[in-house]
Amino acid sequence: MKIILGPASRELGEKIAELTGFETVPVASRVFPDGESYVRLEASVKDEHVAIVQTTCMPQDSNLMQLAFMANAARRNGARKVTSVIPYLAYARQDKVFLEGENVSIETIVAMLKAAGIDQLITVNIHAESALSRFPFPAKTLSAIPLLAEYFVEKGCKEAFALAPDKGAFYIAEQAKTVLGGESGNLEKQRDRHTGQTTQTAKHLNIKDKTVIIFDDIISTGGTIVGAAKILHEQGAAHVYTACVHGLLIGDAEKRILDAGIKEIISTDSVPGKTSKVSLAPLLSEALKAL
Ligand code: R5P
Repeated sequence: MKIILGPASRELGEKIAELTGFETVPVASRVFPDGESYVRLEASVKDEHVAIVQTTCMPQDSNLMQLAFMANAARRNGARKVTSVIPYLAYARQDKVFLEGENVSIETIVAMLKAAGIDQLITVNIHAESALSRFPFPAKTLSAIPLLAEYFVEKGCKEAFALAPDKGAFYIAEQAKTVLGGESGNLEKQRDRHTGQTTQTAKHLNIKDKTVIIFDDIISTGGTIVGAAKILHEQGAAHVYTACVHGLLIGDAEKRILDAGIKEIISTDSVPGKTSKVSLAPLLSEALKAL
């Protein structure tokens, strides 16, 4: 296998190559003055099974186009199989029709990737695993939650309370609990599908004087974590941390979260940035070696 170093995840791709021993294919990329993307594979992929490592966080649309172009280039240059490793899969939250007249974004994205030449896909903590049934090729989602929980064990937070900010993320808190060895729980969150506004409901949790870690798949504006932190502080939590797989952290989200009394925010390198202190490289390397 060869690792194609997608421009949006070059560092992660290099780490994966180091851990697996697979050769890399560098990619030259540029953006034309009108905003269009250009890519070129800089090593041979003839008769190879290639894994393109390319995240699709912001700017989502151009990262997706680069991915499709790399897949097409791999095919044209004789790759025998194309696996895409997409640490953060954009548009996965619109995985069904919520209001009449909407589209299913993720369905369109994966159809485009198949047309570009992708044969199979590996991603990490897709928003809802049920979306995979819409994919036109074999696809799997891995969980980075144990790696995030390990970070806190190493920090001395063993037996911290693992909290999910909504019911949908409860499975995440449960996975963290198995590593942390403490308790777990969840809050409730309702979203108005017309305005996008969310409301969070407090319920009594056994967290007085405890260290609590809020786990979620995505932190975007930070609103969910800020709301959860307020509830936890009201209920007497001693220390509150937060961890997510995909730290989109739009605008001043990081500041808002820290201002809400959260001691630290950590995320993975699915979205490279200041908070991405946990690398997905070991998880993705194992998955690629097993193919
Ligand atoms: C949605 O249910 C997700 O799991 C996250 O909770 C959500 O995307 C976080 O968004 P925000 O940071 O804007 O509250």
